[in-house]
Amino acid sequence: MIHHQEEMQLFHLQTREFSYVMQVLENGQLVNRYFGKKINRFSSGNKITYLDRAFSPSPITGNRTFSIDTLQLEYSSNGLGDFRTAALELRNEFGTALDLKYKEHRIFKGKKELPGLPQSFGSEDEVETLEIDLYDELTDVTVTLSYSVFSELNYLTRSTLIKAGRYASKIEKAYSFTIDMPHRDVHVHTLTGRYAYEKEWTVTPLPNGKYSIGSIRGASSHSRTPFMALAAEDATEDAGQVYAAHLIYSGNFTAFAETTALDTTRWGMGINDETFSWQLEAGDSFQTPEALISYTDKGLTGMTRDSHNFIRDHICRGEFARKERPILINNWEATYFDFNEEKILDIAKTASQTGIELFVLDDGWFGKRNDDESSLGDWVVNPEKLPNGLGGLARSINDLGMEFGLWFEPEMISVDSDLYRAHPDWAIQISGRDHIYSREQLVLNLAKPEVVDYIVDTVSAILESANITYVKWDMNRNITAIPEDLANDQKHEFYHCYILGLYDALERLVTRFPQVLFESCSGGGGRNDLGLMYYMPQAWASDNTDAIGRLSIQEGTSLVYPVSSIGAHVSAVPNHQVGRITPLATRGNVAMMGGAFGYELDLNQLPQEEIQEVAEQVQTYKEIRSTVQYGDYYRLKKTSNTQAGIYISPDQSQAVFTFVKILAQPEAPLIQVRLKGLDPEAAYHCEALGETFYGDELMNIGLTMPHVQKDYFSVQYIFNKI
Ligand code: DGJ
Repeated sequence: MIHHQEEMQLFHLQTREFSYVMQVLENGQLVNRYFGKKINRFSSGNKITYLDRAFSPSPITGNRTFSIDTLQLEYSSNGLGDFRTAALELRNEFGTALDLKYKEHRIFKGKKELPGLPQSFGSEDEVETLEIDLYDELTDVTVTLSYSVFSELNYLTRSTLIKAGRYASKIEKAYSFTIDMPHRDVHVHTLTGRYAYEKEWTVTPLPNGKYSIGSIRGASSHSRTPFMALAAEDATEDAGQVYAAHLIYSGNFTAFAETTALDTTRWGMGINDETFSWQLEAGDSFQTPEALISYTDKGLTGMTRDSHNFIRDHICRGEFARKERPILINNWEATYFDFNEEKILDIAKTASQTGIELFVLDDGWFGKRNDDESSLGDWVVNPEKLPNGLGGLARSINDLGMEFGLWFEPEMISVDSDLYRAHPDWAIQISGRDHIYSREQLVLNLAKPEVVDYIVDTVSAILESANITYVKWDMNRNITAIPEDLANDQKHEFYHCYILGLYDALERLVTRFPQVLFESCSGGGGRNDLGLMYYMPQAWASDNTDAIGRLSIQEGTSLVYPVSSIGAHVSAVPNHQVGRITPLATRGNVAMMGGAFGYELDLNQLPQEEIQEVAEQVQTYKEIRSTVQYGDYYRLKKTSNTQAGIYISPDQSQAVFTFVKILAQPEAPLIQVRLKGLDPEAAYHCEALGETFYGDELMNIGLTMPHVQKDYFSVQYIFNKI
């Protein structure tokens, strides 16, 4: 996986599909020589062209052609001739410039742990690591670049450790990686959006200058995802070069691609430096979050496949990482805060008769929380609503043959709460200023260890008090008003300290409760990132439960996140977010296509025939669950009015095809969809169509979609190999 060629000081990192080559130049500069389709050997025949470029400064007197301004650097700071966006800015008594030169390297099997951070993992057979120390003599600073190669998985991970030597320094910026590439003709793919409209797949040609996304909300956010891909302009679903990167982090981040006047690109990701700094005393070090980097020439489907496989097997941990997820019913849209034990058990009873496997009690079970204005922080059951406590409720639900799950929002505090009355100083706020509310709540200061302990203790006490096998961990506002009692320097450390506190709490809880499936949520997908997926292998994708709204949200989320991680529910009509009335069949088909399937409505409000339809959907999902959650997903033909996709089980024995048409149109053309991923030689039977087809027919001729003049029409065809 990692080859070191001593004579030329070359490092050649190889995965299944790509090569990543670096070289140490004579003066110690570490440069990138190649990143792209796998090559067998890098012979260095294609030499670096050194030119005397006007206004590109040189550190070597008498040599006007050597300038770091024009080299493809691996990691650099500004101030000594590189005028592009720096990877590192470190301030000390010598200024901010660093002259980072190769010092030594190590190659070893496996991968070191990054303390306190979420990260990829793999066995010594799966991953090999290269660490390169770059050193600045004047400031005595060492920067260790880590490259871990997951060859078969087609991923490279990168992170950076910055170590102060004899002098104290302040880090103003420390990205996880930057890469310089010798071309700029790419399209940038990102996942953007807003609340209830998350993960819009956005594609834009890389402009002249810099294209960046990021967050300074204290969370990765609904509107930006720590992911960026650079794809060839002609890349399609099935072919073409795609470079993709993720940051394994849940807080403020930035991702950028910057072009230069010489048509090269610098690409990078890391903690957002607008809201970050970190004091390093002499001898201290700082570890950046880890980034994942991949390349494929198998188009966007290839990128999706690599990303799903890697995240599923090398980010998600614990017994649920590969386990089929339970079909759940959640009471949020069924009752909101207005429930008691009887009402919950009524819904649970009907749910159990349909074959649903898990009941999730959402917000409102604790303190005196009858609306969203109080009680966050008071994690004590409300006896008026639940006279038999959570233990009693869980038992009754278990008796119905279902598991029991519970909602928490542990990072928050209501001003109207016993916790706030006891510990007002635990809330993030500036004394002397008005509170800045969001949903009438404040955020707990997770940078304080005693607050993290409180969260771990209170959540643990509840989890120990009843048979709870699922937790929905919500987070419904962003961070404002950084406390005034922090020294100025610490203010910029605060956001990262908060995230480290959160990771600490989660690590302790998931270790203590391995039998619990944790699902993350932040008003839907407000913090749906790989940082949290390391602890919680599932995420509630969006508060938008409208089947049509969900099409783009699920498409964007599944562009890179494994389908097993995406919570997708059927809700009532008219839909609570947009008022749309869609057929139950389409709501079911879209949610089943979305991932970890469930319901979020009062089943008792449905007519008997719809309850029967729910039971049939549940039965169907059980038959296709493993294919949807752990199969290969292919996006199929898409128009502005239609969407289609197919899941193929790993052994190609089952395929689940879904087609959705949004609006009926007069004299609409017929729609022909070609399927993908099937065994071309095999015969597949589709019960819904009452027909048997060969894989090659379905993939080359395709199927003509039914011409039905109805809005929100959909079909689901399940193909089983015979
Ligand atoms: C926001 C979540 O996204 C919803 O599903 C629900 O849990 C509410 N919070 C409860 O307050």
